[in-house]
Amino acid sequence: MSIATGIIGASGFAGGELARLLAGHPEFGLCYASVPGHSPDLVGKPLAAVHPHLRAGRAVEALPSKNGGSAGSLELVSTKTSEAARRCEVVFLATPPLVSAALGPALLAAGVEVVVDLSPAFRLRDPALHSKWYPAVSRPPERTAVYGLPELNRALLPGADLIAAPGCLATAAILALMPLSGLDGVRLSSITIDGKAGSTGSGHRLRSSGLHPVRSGVVAPYAPAGHRHVAEIQEALLGKGLATVGGGLRLGMSVFGVDLVRGVSVAAHVIVDPDSRLPSEGELASLYRDAYRDAAFVRVIHWREEAVPLPDPKTLTGSNYCDIAVFQDADCGRLVIVAALDNLMKGAAGQAIQACNIRYGLPETLGIDAFAVYPG
Ligand SMILES: NC(=O)c1ccc[n+]([C@@H]2O[C@H](COP(=O)([O-])OP(=O)(O)OC[C@H]3O[C@@H](n4cnc5c(N)ncnc54)[C@H](OP(=O)(O)O)[C@@H]3O)[C@@H](O)[C@H]2O)c1
Repeated sequence: MSIATGIIGASGFAGGELARLLAGHPEFGLCYASVPGHSPDLVGKPLAAVHPHLRAGRAVEALPSKNGGSAGSLELVSTKTSEAARRCEVVFLATPPLVSAALGPALLAAGVEVVVDLSPAFRLRDPALHSKWYPAVSRPPERTAVYGLPELNRALLPGADLIAAPGCLATAAILALMPLSGLDGVRLSSITIDGKAGSTGSGHRLRSSGLHPVRSGVVAPYAPAGHRHVAEIQEALLGKGLATVGGGLRLGMSVFGVDLVRGVSVAAHVIVDPDSRLPSEGELASLYRDAYRDAAFVRVIHWREEAVPLPDPKTLTGSNYCDIAVFQDADCGRLVIVAALDNLMKGAAGQAIQACNIRYGLPETLGIDAFAVYPG
């Protein structure tokens, strides 16, 4: 089987990571890579002109799928819905949300079987929440997507035509907190997520804040409150039955830009109601290990038992894993859950392919099972 596959937004960071993964994927055959009409200078150039790591060589030319040999030499074209639909069964949208909101439904209407959107355009199910957090992104009200976090929505993926790949910080936060819904007899007061994100999370377009002299060495609080991923984190966790006292979910997030190229780390500070019992670290570790027993890409670290480093994006570069560790802070009635991942892999392209593998009944890990590069 070779499933004709395209990438729109191929010149961006997420698009480049999709191309790297699809180049070695035995089932998804990369045959279309497009850039917007406002970048005519790129049209007709090979993909390797913007992603030099994808230049062909003798080793990849020998790959059975031939993707490896052809990925870098694939000619970039100007995005056209009809052409993408004519050439592709599957299209990955690595585009800004305004663009995805228009292209996703149009591609499906034109005959594309599956669209996997990496933007936030279709992530939120609740239309009121979507309008609140993304007021400029209008989408057809009748068009719903499956939120493509396999650990949450595995059963819904096989029938999906539109898959909304989760945000990178949201993925780390949801995976860090989801198992807490299985805690018995513990009432939670509130949750605060402290997030750190590398520079590739902001995309490839140059801004003054992204210049090397400005970005290097920073610990920049770019969203101290009101990060838009909070909405999808709440929607996902409420759907799993996680709540704080009084109903609903009191959950906030502060995010800092840090001096990493790739990588996301979150520390979720979970305040337990003082009148409730405080679970032990051993209980938490068992809970998390049970919750992720069958998860191919979630590794739970019990730091008191294992001689491995705690979750750190540095150890995850290029891999699709999310590492999680659990702690209890008895002095202030707090649980601390730390999760780390590579934002372009489990936080974007890797997870999008994981969801698409499941959509097509392929082994979930196909094409995305490499260990990280370390030191990276
Ligand atoms: N980076 C991450 O860590 C990450 C993680 C999860 C999700 N995401 C989401 O994935 C999407 C892509 O992110 P990114 O970081 O790869 O951004 P990026 O580096 O800025 O890439 C965006 C791509 O979309 C293209 N594009 C813009 N307008 C277009 C149009 N009208 N038609 C066709 N293509 C158009 C851009 O081309 P030009 O540059 O020529 O305009 C570029 O190729 C975003 O929605 C982002 O929120 C990113």
